[in-house]
Amino acid sequence: MISVTCVAPVNIALIKYWGKRHEELILPINDSISMTLSTDELCAKTTVTASETFERNRMWLNGEEVPFEEGSRLTRCLKEVHRLALINGSQKVSPSWKVHIASVNNFPTAAGLASSAAGYACLVYSLARLYDIPLDEELTTVARQGSGSACRSLYGGFVQWHRGELTNGSDSVAKPIASSKHWPNMHVLILVVNDERKKTASTKGMQQSVNTSQLIRHRADKVVPERIAQLTEAIESRDFQTFAEITMKDSNQFHAIALDTYPPCVYMNDVSHKIASFVHEYNEIMGSLHAAYTFDAGPNACLYVLEENVPELLNAVQRVFPSDSDDSATYLRGLSVPKADNIHRIGDAAKTKIDSLDVSARNAFRYIIHTKVGEGPRELNDENSLLINGLPLDN
Ligand code: DP6
Repeated sequence: MISVTCVAPVNIALIKYWGKRHEELILPINDSISMTLSTDELCAKTTVTASETFERNRMWLNGEEVPFEEGSRLTRCLKEVHRLALINGSQKVSPSWKVHIASVNNFPTAAGLASSAAGYACLVYSLARLYDIPLDEELTTVARQGSGSACRSLYGGFVQWHRGELTNGSDSVAKPIASSKHWPNMHVLILVVNDERKKTASTKGMQQSVNTSQLIRHRADKVVPERIAQLTEAIESRDFQTFAEITMKDSNQFHAIALDTYPPCVYMNDVSHKIASFVHEYNEIMGSLHAAYTFDAGPNACLYVLEENVPELLNAVQRVFPSDSDDSATYLRGLSVPKADNIHRIGDAAKTKIDSLDVSARNAFRYIIHTKVGEGPRELNDENSLLINGLPLDN
């Protein structure tokens, strides 16, 4: 019996992946770029155990057993890893042995954050460690077949998923643009919006967009290639102004495509729109772009902000969107926020303007997570295992 435990990060797209040209292989119609978030605040954790004595493959997700169905994304990923293990692996574990897999997210599913990306990246990375397969471009094609956005979570920092041209998908790979150390003061505030509605899953939503949106082709053919080049340059030169503008525009265009879908996919809610307006007003008051928003297939906002500007942004967010929560540790999670002088630098005139913004809403968020750019997946020692003798700890 041999076991491996790993953690993998969440990534948030700056230029969105939306639309497939091949459903099963998960081949996208456009390139995308994301930033990987630190695993200290958000991550998936997976243990994979292989044994000669296991009779069948089994998996537990957040403690609940999930079926290993023929033809599922899970089975496809396992088969693909086995193929690579036979070519590249050390053969210390035979791919013919059955595996037991346990995976958990360290953040509530209710947060509606990209759990499938971290989950599949962690699964594929853990299997790769088990069979001694190197982390290379080919491995990203396996994670991609679990969930498209998962291929970007195999690297830290800033990552591009290249759509590729080939019909077999072998060139549809993720590649790093810059490591987390390149722009270490890039921070994120995730505003987890109170919302109980069930969203249209990304897989179905993007399928409907490809079938019905007239705007999506223009986006894929004309807009995204230009934006990829501009954003790559902005990341390379740590140009926050360009970074922020492209990120916000691309989020807006993705939601415009979602609305151009028939029937429309509505992911942002009233609070999301208030947050977007707030960011624009705030940047106006500050005299340059100090924050950028992006929204995925749900109402939560990710605000990108440089570390030195976090205290003033958070202060403004909390002025405009006050919370009645008296438990500040649960309300404001993640990295601590230094009591920096720049809150005072805003000046009274700006504070008055912020206080009079008409987008204000009370108790608009469940909580706020403060995190930053982070590194890719890594292996943990055996003490962190989620399986004992191949069974979940609590069984
Ligand atoms: C809006 O990767 O979840 O978050 O490939 O069907 O599993 P599937 O979709 P998924 O889509 C993510 C869409 C997005 C944008 C992005 O992450 O690029």
